[in-house]
Amino acid sequence: MSIKLVRRKASQVQADLVAIGVVEGQELKGAVAGLAKEDRDAITARAKRIGFKGKVNSAMIVQLTGHDVALVGVGKGDTVDAWRRAASSARNAATVSRATTYAFALDDAARPLDVLAAVIEGTLLTGYTYEKYKTKKSETSYGGPRTITITSPSLSDTGRAVETLARTQEVCDAVCFARDLVNEIPTAKPPGHLAAVARQVARGSARLRCDVWQGERLRREKMNGIIAVSSGSRNSGALIKLIYKPRRRPRARVALIGKGITFDSGGLSLKPAKSMETMKMDMSGAALVLAVMRALPELDPAVEVHGFIASAENMPGQNAQKPGDIIRYRNGVTAEVLNTDAEGRLVLADALCLAGEIDPDYIVDAATLTGACMVALGLRIGGIMGTDQALVDDIIAVGKDAGEGLWQLPLVEDYAEEIRSSIADIKNIGGGYAGTIAAALFLRHFVGKNKWAHLDIAGPAWTDRALPYTPRGGTGFAIRTVLGWLDRIG
Ligand code: BES
Ligand code: MN
Ligand code: ZN
Repeated sequence: MSIKLVRRKASQVQADLVAIGVVEGQELKGAVAGLAKEDRDAITARAKRIGFKGKVNSAMIVQLTGHDVALVGVGKGDTVDAWRRAASSARNAATVSRATTYAFALDDAARPLDVLAAVIEGTLLTGYTYEKYKTKKSETSYGGPRTITITSPSLSDTGRAVETLARTQEVCDAVCFARDLVNEIPTAKPPGHLAAVARQVARGSARLRCDVWQGERLRREKMNGIIAVSSGSRNSGALIKLIYKPRRRPRARVALIGKGITFDSGGLSLKPAKSMETMKMDMSGAALVLAVMRALPELDPAVEVHGFIASAENMPGQNAQKPGDIIRYRNGVTAEVLNTDAEGRLVLADALCLAGEIDPDYIVDAATLTGACMVALGLRIGGIMGTDQALVDDIIAVGKDAGEGLWQLPLVEDYAEEIRSSIADIKNIGGGYAGTIAAALFLRHFVGKNKWAHLDIAGPAWTDRALPYTPRGGTGFAIRTVLGWLDRIG
């Protein structure tokens, strides 16, 4: 889809549909100014009749002669994400109207470039589809909107607006790339496949390097968590590294870690059938790392980023690890495996050991780690925990603008005893309560003195139904947040 930016009033643009953001409770007059009087009257009358007030996620289409108008709510208009959602409603309205071209009218906003980026994101992320395995593609007679013209009488800094457009398109490409990986079927994406994708990503830029450990190399490097979790599968696990060296002198060195369980059957602690249906998504953290690394050369932040993916297929084969087994980690810590379905923390521990060895300023990991996090926070919000409050606060703040809600859970010191083992240093499950915190406390044994933030994205990484700018399937959650945060520190 092509996006044009023009410094004009929406009413001056030729398009099949014109979408106008409406602030809740404000007179419609301002929004529809510039249209012909009879059109204004038709719109106001209809809005009144159906009770359109401009709430977020609400839209109203009016058919006029020559073109349609969609009013899309932006609520109080005081959050960046409201504009993202309004842009999503606009695109859906354009599809309903069978418009091939449409315009989105941007008014003066407090943060014009952030709002512009949000509108572009809302537009592009709404258009995502995954049809690789469909023999009949949707929308065959009508291919959906082809071009959107974003109009603003006051996009004062045209140069920066054009740059924002290019960067935001890159970010959206990254999110859609991750969604594709998460939506891919589990048998087509064993750890070796993620490694191949990482190599391909690295080939895209001279500033990226890739290194993959599989098989015997994992043993030599004592990646014993990945080996243990992989042992029930015919597919080798992988530790995948992608390193980004910026053009300019780096202001910080970041280790970014993703959980890459390409299918989580639970292992011998087998999951019930229902719980397994979506477990191809258990590599969403890995997809995040691949997507972020892929976008960095274009976005060009002055940060050195070391991406680590700890990947395995968690299967109950005859060589599978057994409840009661003990893993001895690269950093010397021993962990008793009492439930093979708590496998994410087992593989992440390997990556955390390696991350600590690069002397990072920050370690950030993303993992679909616990069902308990979904119980606590639901499907729309991720959990965040960490050892450095400023780091956690920064990520939460960036997430808010990105429309990716994160809520901090406490690393309660008194709960540390829950994961004490009678036979090893620690065990991989706690007493059953606060499972998200127990998992994070397990990970903390591998973090050392580093500044660390842990994102538990089990809930929002996947959606069974379409959400604003997020079709069913893998969502790409937290990619925009992590990129935004890296941009901020670079
Ligand atoms: N991958 C799951 C967590 C998960 C569940 C992610 C549902 C997304 C949706 C993780 O490996 C897991 O199985 N966790 C167990 C831990 C338990 C055995 C301590 C869980 O949450 O039930
Ligand atoms: Mn599991
Ligand atoms: Zn898992």
